[in-house]
Amino acid sequence: MKDELDNCNGCMEACSDQLEKPAKSISRRKFLSVGALTVGAAGATVAATGGLGLLGSIAGAATTPPTCATVPGTVKHPRGTWGYETLDPAVCAERAYHGFYVNFCCWAVVDGVLGTMQDTLGSPYTNLDLMAFKFGAAGVNGWGTLCGTALGAALVTNIIVGAVGGVDKGSAMSNDLLAYYAATSMPAYVPTAPEYEARGGTKPQFLPGGTFPTSVADSPLCHVSTNKWMFAANTACGLPTFAYGGTADPTSIVSGSIERKERCARLAGTMAYKTVELLNAFKASSYTSGAWGGAGVGNPGGSPAQKDCVDCHTI
Ligand code: HEC
Repeated sequence: MKDELDNCNGCMEACSDQLEKPAKSISRRKFLSVGALTVGAAGATVAATGGLGLLGSIAGAATTPPTCATVPGTVKHPRGTWGYETLDPAVCAERAYHGFYVNFCCWAVVDGVLGTMQDTLGSPYTNLDLMAFKFGAAGVNGWGTLCGTALGAALVTNIIVGAVGGVDKGSAMSNDLLAYYAATSMPAYVPTAPEYEARGGTKPQFLPGGTFPTSVADSPLCHVSTNKWMFAANTACGLPTFAYGGTADPTSIVSGSIERKERCARLAGTMAYKTVELLNAFKASSYTSGAWGGAGVGNPGGSPAQKDCVDCHTI
């Protein structure tokens, strides 16, 4: 399997069918000739030739080469064709746990799974620079939106699983992981070699043998999840909490503390673990989606929403 993928043969064979499809719908030559036509008529109102007519109506388009996204691309490694070999969830989880302390949450989960695939299968996984996924940290560049561990897990499944028989299983699996994240008492993963003490942590609850504080986020949002956990951790440790708008008590487990980092590192381990479990089930043809439900619906019009309406709304 490794040799096959190193040379990309297996992948190219698997995807040759898909490679031909874009060329059938519109060939590069045909596109260019249509593009030249519209460019030549720049400034005039051109009858729409699909989206291309727009080019002709933009002043100055005559000097702009027609290199828009409608040029048929060549996807060399379609998702779902990269190969997957059953992994040990505990090994990937431990790697992700330590990875958090290197490049934070999103990268940690991606590296825990895809990094392991790079080491075991090589190409095409080694074509990916995993640093491209560091941006997901702290709810995407610190914005507190989607938790980086959930984002990392979603990226992994969408690359590895892809679509099967026209059904987007990679996407379904990423939904499962978001729903699992929201519904589960986190963090669930206990590292075999915890870093907390070596990093200066002293709180008994966080040391080996202690009862590590957990919380259910009811949401995949970094901000919501982190703060619910911080309140739960303060309660568990007998520390004063701080109210919204108030001054953070220096003895509280605030964002940025050693305790909070240890929590997010274990969260990365938890999500890597569950991701690998689902991928292994998929590999064994025993995966079914929907175990934890799906997203909420914001209003009768169907705006996207999480289920925890009252976190943000008063009813
Ligand atoms: C992460 C926070 C958050 C969550 C969770 C959330 N909402 Fe909202 N929602 C908002 C914000 C912000 C707005 C913008 C209007 C506002 O400030 O109320 C909004 C607007 C709406 C509106 C339009 C309000 C209006 O006056 O027209 C509806 C309806 C709504 N949400 C329903 C829901 C439902 C139902 C859920 C749960 C399934 C939900 N929302 C979950 C933050 C949230």
